[in-house]
Amino acid sequence: MELSYLIDASSLLLRWLHLIVGIAWIGSSFYFVWLDNSLKEPTDPKLKEDGVGGELWAMHGGGFYNPQKYAVAPKQLPDDLHFFFWPSYTTWITGFLLISMLYYFQAATYMIDPTISSVTPAQSVGIGLATLALGWVVYDQLARLLIERSQLLFAVIYVAFVAAVTYALCHLIAGRAAYIHVGAMIATTMSANVFFWIIPAQRKQVAAMQRGEAVNPLWGKRAKQRSYHNNYLTLPVLFAMISNHYASTYNHPQAWLVLLLIMLGSVLIRHFFNLRHKKIVRWEYPIAGLAIIFATLVWIAPKPLPAPASNAAPTPTLAEITAIAQARCAGCHAEKPTIMPVAQMGVMLDTPERVKQFAQRIHERSVQLKNMPLANMTQMTDEERARIGAWYAAGAK
Ligand code: HEC
Repeated sequence: MELSYLIDASSLLLRWLHLIVGIAWIGSSFYFVWLDNSLKEPTDPKLKEDGVGGELWAMHGGGFYNPQKYAVAPKQLPDDLHFFFWPSYTTWITGFLLISMLYYFQAATYMIDPTISSVTPAQSVGIGLATLALGWVVYDQLARLLIERSQLLFAVIYVAFVAAVTYALCHLIAGRAAYIHVGAMIATTMSANVFFWIIPAQRKQVAAMQRGEAVNPLWGKRAKQRSYHNNYLTLPVLFAMISNHYASTYNHPQAWLVLLLIMLGSVLIRHFFNLRHKKIVRWEYPIAGLAIIFATLVWIAPKPLPAPASNAAPTPTLAEITAIAQARCAGCHAEKPTIMPVAQMGVMLDTPERVKQFAQRIHERSVQLKNMPLANMTQMTDEERARIGAWYAAGAK
């Protein structure tokens, strides 16, 4: 078995697992925030006396459910108490393994972009790892300082911090890597919230009850604030994770702004849902969120290229374009590529038939988005891009 296949197969398994545990984590985040926001004060005096602060009725899978939330804690510690932390930890662990395998071990290919900065592959890995750690330290310090005083002020400063990091990363490392790192930084903060705040607060609550002491309501309150932050961060993180498939976003000259706008739009949409659970319906939030996202997508649409002047060089032939593709693309896109182990994304650009077949995507990547050849590793010239543009405009024949 070849090493390249081993890497491919393990990344398949890791990515699959990462998705499964990520769904479990985000699913429970959505569920518990919905639950919290939907609780109603119980009417049964006995429940109130027991310390139940809110309850609700729901149906799922043909069963009636009646979850109850204690204002602080029940009088007695139940024997079997579930904590929710494995989905969060395993999402982080599989995510870190994935980012290491796909980006850090292939930094020369995926982390750097010589057209953006002169950072070396080793430096780019350092920048990536430092971003993950810095993201948590800054978030945590800000939260300690501010959330008791003003959640809004905290949110404004944290957004400014994320904006600064996004701007810096998009000017230091390759666009794809920058996007995935902004996502990974926020996701690391979310997992660290679970690890350093939420679970320890729960352990303190349980320990106090075991000692027969009163539970300090502040512990639960602090954990809940962090849990809420996590909930707002879910949609931005998910976008950053899928953004790698959308070169028109991370490859835009203002890629940093594109990412920030889409993330901001998604937070507004999340806010709508969180309010709606409390029966507060504020349509202006999702409308603004969707407007921002759509406007961004319209803004980044690749511009049509000017038609070649009539006295320009003769229209390129398929043979000429095939020669360009064989020289500049086939190293990574061929039946037996020479630079990469397998044809990237299954795209092969080594024969006239295939070049014709992929005309639209060749044009998109090498002329409109200019993100192929990857990091311009095969040194395609602007002249060649222009020839492809002229060939495509003339019908790619
Ligand atoms: C050094 C290796 C390398 C070279 C050279 C290269 N590519 Fe790629 N290509 C990749 C990788 C890696 C991907 C997958 C990542 C991505 O989509 O950005 C890819 C993806 C693509 C895709 C996207 C396929 C899809 O389904 O989304 C197209 C189209 C493409 N390349 C076209 C080209 C063209 C045209 C050239 C030559 C002008 C070229 N590539 C040169 C590595 C390369």
